[in-house]
Amino acid sequence: MPIRREYPPRSIDAAAIAGGAVDAHYRKVLVRLLSAHAFAEKLTALGYQLALETIDNPALRPILEKNFREEKKHARLIYRALAELGVTEQQADLAMITIVKAPSFAAAVHFAQHAADEMDLLMASLALDATGLIMIGVNYRDSSYAPHASAAEIILEEEADHEVFASHQLGLAVERFGPERVGAALAQWLPRAVNFFGPPGTGFTYDCIRYGLKARDNQELADLYLAVIGKRCEQLGLSLPALTDSYPHALA
Ligand SMILES: [Fe+2]
Ligand SMILES: [Fe+2]
Repeated sequence: MPIRREYPPRSIDAAAIAGGAVDAHYRKVLVRLLSAHAFAEKLTALGYQLALETIDNPALRPILEKNFREEKKHARLIYRALAELGVTEQQADLAMITIVKAPSFAAAVHFAQHAADEMDLLMASLALDATGLIMIGVNYRDSSYAPHASAAEIILEEEADHEVFASHQLGLAVERFGPERVGAALAQWLPRAVNFFGPPGTGFTYDCIRYGLKARDNQELADLYLAVIGKRCEQLGLSLPALTDSYPHALA
C-alpha cells in the first residue's frame, strides 16, 4: 500500500520546524537524510580532487576541474541547509562515521580514497553522478523541506552535465579499451553503484516518504538506474552484469 505523504513539496522551512509546526521526529529524519546527502557530495568532490592529482590526461582536466568545483558547491549547499537547522558540518560528518562503512557508501568512499585511472573515473562517475541524478531528481526535488528542494534544483542541473560526461565516456571507453575491459570494470563497480541507493523498505525510508522528504523507496530508484544503465550498455554492445537480488547486491 502506498505510504500517505503528510507534508506537500516545499511546505516546510527551518522556522516551521523551530516553531513546532511539524512532527517532532521530522527534524531528526531530515538531519540524518541531509547529513548523508552532504557527505556523499563531499566524498564525490574528494574523488574528483584525487582524480585531478592522479589522472594525467589534459583532455579530461577541464571537466575534472568543473566537476570538482560543482561537487564542492553541492556539499556546501547541503551543509548550509544543515546549518539553518543548527547542525554544523562537523556534527553532521560525525554522525556519518558508522554509516560510511555501510555498503551504500562503498562507491563514494572508494572514489574518495583510491587513486583512479581513467576507467575507474568513468565507473565512479556512472556510480555516483548517474545515481545522484536519479536520487536527487526523483526524491529531493519535491522535498517537503523547501531548502532541500531548492538545493536539489541547483544540483540537478549540474548533475545532468556530469551524467552526460559519464555516458559519453562510456562510449569512448568501449572504443578505446574494448568491451571486455569495460565489462570487467562494470562488474566491479555495478554492485557498488546499485548499493548507493541504500537498502529497500527500511523504517527510515518509510519515515522519509511519510514526511515527504523522499518520493520513492530505494529499491524503485535502484531498478530505475539499472533500467537506464542497462539500456545504455545494450546500445554499446555491453551486457550488464547480473546482480544478486537482495541488498547489499553482489555479482550473481
Ligand atoms: Fe553532486
Ligand atoms: Fe556529480
